[in-house]
Amino acid sequence: MDSNDVRSDLKHVLYTREEIQQRVTELAQEIDADYQGRDILLVGVLKGAVMVMADLARALHSHVTMDWMAVSSYGSGTQSSGVVRILKDLETDLLGKHVLIVEDIIDSGLTLSWLKANLLSRGPASVEICTLLRKPHAAKVEIDVRYVGFEIPSEFVVGYGLDFAEKYRNLDFIGTLAPHIYE
Ligand code: XMP
Ligand code: MG
Repeated sequence: MDSNDVRSDLKHVLYTREEIQQRVTELAQEIDADYQGRDILLVGVLKGAVMVMADLARALHSHVTMDWMAVSSYGSGTQSSGVVRILKDLETDLLGKHVLIVEDIIDSGLTLSWLKANLLSRGPASVEICTLLRKPHAAKVEIDVRYVGFEIPSEFVVGYGLDFAEKYRNLDFIGTLAPHIYE
């Protein structure tokens, strides 16, 4: 392995590309069955959800449209506070639409709980959430997440859209960082 190879920064692989593809396909089948031919507006949360959005959208057989939001949550240090600022809003009018928020990971759930309430205030027919990963903290906030790919331990993960200082989003698997990277 070349010394600048991004893989040398990782401790271990949590989910391989194949495991992610398999799970995303299962979620898509579940979603297709639940929406029964209704059109779905997928709302991806930038930037982390880019990979899961691309794979989920291609695995769905329903008619879908896609839009994107970017939000930043204010917080002290690494904890998110639930106070959210919209950096990029949707271009789509949500009135009467079936909205499915697509996320990479839910930690405290504060960001998503704010986002769901915000989207519900715009008059959609429904708002549901699909996240690839969920950490145990998510219980802190009462938030109903219809579709969860994997429940993971409370450890920092990167890859498949998830970053550390904006790096590692391009990995096609999900892994944990070697301690020498963040210590
Ligand atoms: P909440 O509000 O649910 O925020 O606490 C979730 C956001 O926190 C970030 N996050 C992570 N990002 N690896 C990451 O790359 C992780 O293990 C991780 N845990 C939380 C992420 O931005 C997510 O949207
Ligand atoms: Mg995110």
